Amino acid sequence: MYNSKITGLGFFVPDNIVTNDDLAKMMDTNDAWIQERTGIKERRWIKDKEDTTATMGAKAAKIAIERAGLDKKDIDFIVFATLSPDYFFPGCGVQIQDMLDLPHIGALDVRNQCSGFVYAISVADQFIKTGMYKNILVIGSEYHSNGLDKTTRGRGVSVIFGDGAGAVILSREEDNTKGILSTHLHSQGEYAEKLTVISPSIKHWVPEICANPDDISYYPYMDGQFVFKNAIVRFSEVINEGLKANNLTAKDIDMFIPHQANLRISQFVQKKFGLSDDQVYNNIMYYGNTTAASIAIALTEAWEKGLVKDNDLVVLAAFGSGFTWGSVIIRW
Ligand code: UT7
Repeated sequence: MYNSKITGLGFFVPDNIVTNDDLAKMMDTNDAWIQERTGIKERRWIKDKEDTTATMGAKAAKIAIERAGLDKKDIDFIVFATLSPDYFFPGCGVQIQDMLDLPHIGALDVRNQCSGFVYAISVADQFIKTGMYKNILVIGSEYHSNGLDKTTRGRGVSVIFGDGAGAVILSREEDNTKGILSTHLHSQGEYAEKLTVISPSIKHWVPEICANPDDISYYPYMDGQFVFKNAIVRFSEVINEGLKANNLTAKDIDMFIPHQANLRISQFVQKKFGLSDDQVYNNIMYYGNTTAASIAIALTEAWEKGLVKDNDLVVLAAFGSGFTWGSVIIRW
């Protein structure tokens, strides 16, 4: 059995900054409400369709591959996490194979929303543990802005989400005290419709939507308070599960990188585990919630700033639509 370790990281966000004041020109909202409830000051939204989920993913991936010091032919597999793919099908993974001119390797898409990156890492880790693959490109990318209801009707959801992508290379690690120590995944489909985009779906296809002007099932729906309450419980549970599986405690955590869902959720978890401000990395203030991309972007930024160091215990955790949730315990 091998371990896997992160050997390259990269992220890409669009240049276009959208502030809370910019949103207040589109809908009845204000900077104070958004900052107080979510911590978000601004987010990046793709302008003039300059990018897509796949092109952003490819840009982040290029940086990660370069930083891992790998050649294209060394990549064995692609795992791509997103809830906003370029096409209904096929998934974005195959587009990455083409855009980066990789060999005809396998490409798998993961559909686990805010937990997508944690799930993607877990999948890649299993392929490496079994010895099947040596280097896997894992991407989380999200293009939300084109699908949001930017009117007052949609303000409870649309002020939260941002566009962006992050990528890592997972590579074989022979020392099994290093790298990804364990991953922990969960779901509870009973709450699938608490955070969802209902359609277009095969059971509710485009002509049916167009026939009813009141049908707005193509916009994301979220029962915010319900999601919030579940998030703080599940985040805590799944971090504890990961620590326990490795005979560790909260005191062993050097860096916690939560999915950037809401600054209040991160702060709740920080307090619960007794972590100091420099043991938790948050960047939701500048990028909003980028779902499957958020941990990848935050991890890359933290690493670029020298906040993730050799031998550190790094904990990743996420909760989101599905419901799905999970954690990753890493000895860097
Ligand atoms: O990443 C996946 C997981 N997602 C999450 O974890 C998100 C979890 N939920 C949340 O982060 C929060 O529930 C929100 C930030 C989405 C909302 O915050 P909240 O404190 O739960 O607010 P609320 O939905 O209960 O709304 C409170 C009030 C309402 O007005 P009334 O009924 O009290 O008059 C809303 O209509 O705030 C109003 N409101 C807004 N006002 C200004 C909702 N959205 C806005 C807005 N600007 N953007």
